[in-house]
Amino acid sequence: MSVLINGGAGYIGAHVVRLLQERGEQAVVVDDLSNSVTGRIGDAPFFQFDLAGDSAVQQLTDIMRNYGVTAVVHFAAKKRVDESVARPAYYYQQNIGSLANTLEAMQLAEVRDIVFSSSAAVYGMPEVPADGLIAEDIPHTPINPYGETKYIGEWMIADAERAYGTRGVCLRYFNVAGSGWDDLGDPGIMNLIPAAFVRIERGEAPAIFGTDYPTPDGTCVRDYIHVKDLAAAHLAALEYLQREDRPEFAFNVGTGQGYSVSEVVAEVLTVTGFATPPVVRGRRAGDPPQLVADNSRITSVLGWSAEHGLADIVSSAWAAWRHDHDAS
Ligand code: UD1
Repeated sequence: MSVLINGGAGYIGAHVVRLLQERGEQAVVVDDLSNSVTGRIGDAPFFQFDLAGDSAVQQLTDIMRNYGVTAVVHFAAKKRVDESVARPAYYYQQNIGSLANTLEAMQLAEVRDIVFSSSAAVYGMPEVPADGLIAEDIPHTPINPYGETKYIGEWMIADAERAYGTRGVCLRYFNVAGSGWDDLGDPGIMNLIPAAFVRIERGEAPAIFGTDYPTPDGTCVRDYIHVKDLAAAHLAALEYLQREDRPEFAFNVGTGQGYSVSEVVAEVLTVTGFATPPVVRGRRAGDPPQLVADNSRITSVLGWSAEHGLADIVSSAWAAWRHDHDAS
């Protein structure tokens, strides 16, 4: 198997690159390095350019042909919700443009298979059913341009299936965190766990945004998925695309277990040994109270399930954080 990984130098992409390399498969990486570094991809062939740029279709087609690419995993995207609200056209240009160019090149180079990084953001602010779990077929009403670009990306792949015979699968990630290897930590600092580390590093207590949500302890509940489990889901998705019988197009990738912000922060304090209790701030705009995956589809159809829980997620994230920050 020779797999083109668009955005393969990023946090999640680099985990998939390394898993493929461990299995003896070839990974070829394209990345613009806007949010990543090349040191994470070992000896994978690497090309740096803007996938949404004017020459991307030609460059991608050449790479696909030269490396005998048989499948694409498309991570490359801008992913900051607040930035997407402030710069919607830029998010459409980048996230939709890069995927359109990729699908065009796949058609030209006759590459059939694509795994697309989608997001629980396609669900927006969902009505939570009685069992508390979000299934794939609930209404999709993204509430920001970031989520809209992910939803439209899914349509684009479905359209390419109908028009070109592309085979695609969309993985809707819930809250990705942790690290599979100490040198592949999340370089971003916006999400809850790294944001808590940043504050602890400064000697400040982690911040909790809102304690008045309609949840058991008043803080938002999320489904935290270990990045190495998520990477394994991509390999399962690539195998799925080989099957003749593919009953589903999109899968939630989550554990089915929710943790509140307070619970996550408590785990962060345990792992880091930081003793000061968290500070409470007001709500952050646009946060749904609860987002936990119904993962029965991916479990039954792909045979995938998460191996790591919250303790592994936080301890591996902290080990990677120390690896990066003690070295610098
Ligand atoms: C994240 C991603 C989003 C993705 C979604 C999938 C970002 C900014 N958001 O959203 O792209 O589609 O998962 O479900 O990358 N919090 C605090 N204190 C902090 C930081 C966060 O209390 O210092 C709270 C937030 O208000 C939220 C929860 O922690 O309630 C999780 O926040 P975050 O880690 O940013 O993830 P999501 O917003 O759920």
